[in-house]
Amino acid sequence: MLNKSPTAAQALIELTNIKKNYQLGEVEVQVLQGVNLSIERGEFVAIMGRSGSGKSTLMNLLGCIDQPSAGSYLFQGREVERLDDDELSDLRGRAVGFVFQSFHLLKNLTVLQNVELPMEYQGMAPTLRQEKAGALLQRVGLGHRLEHRPNQLSGGERQRVAIARSLSNDPLLILADE
Ligand SMILES: Nc1ncnc2c1ncn2[C@@H]1O[C@H](COP(=O)(O)OP(=O)(O)OP(=O)(O)O)[C@@H](O)[C@H]1O
Ligand SMILES: [Mg+2]
Repeated sequence: MLNKSPTAAQALIELTNIKKNYQLGEVEVQVLQGVNLSIERGEFVAIMGRSGSGKSTLMNLLGCIDQPSAGSYLFQGREVERLDDDELSDLRGRAVGFVFQSFHLLKNLTVLQNVELPMEYQGMAPTLRQEKAGALLQRVGLGHRLEHRPNQLSGGERQRVAIARSLSNDPLLILADE
């Protein structure tokens, strides 16, 4: 049967007993205290919790922007901790799309250029990536704002630019923080 293949059985994400502490001078702030989470390919997961409970911290770990203090993180069966810097940035650039809580758009770039950037990092040719960025922005209803800078947009429009950018490299994993 099709769904019995080994790749179908393997979760996209497998967190086991993940801990994250921050050292603030003498004080150790324990934010994540043993998270176990398994996410399949194609699955939609909402992480909910009160402000300060560690949602963004967890998403930064999932997006390989930060490393856990303890525990194991398997992405497509590969131990993330063992990847070197090049492999990590490759994973982030190719496989993960991130919509940050505060969007993180580059203020000196236009809307179109912001969406092009991840594709530029992946070495896509200029005309191709402009076309794709334009199409993605059209999809999120911003086809008429391509030449605007982030500070000339509303909050919701900024968020939609960040969403278009997160989709630009057809990621396996989209992390949308709020
Ligand atoms: N770099 C840091 N150093 C020390 N403490 C930190 C650091 N980053 C986050 N924290 C603390 O970790 C806790 C979790 O923060 P996090 O941003 O993950 O919360 P959150 O669930 O995303 O909250 P919100 O809903 O407000 O976005 C908070 O109490 C925060 O003060
Ligand atoms: Mg947050």
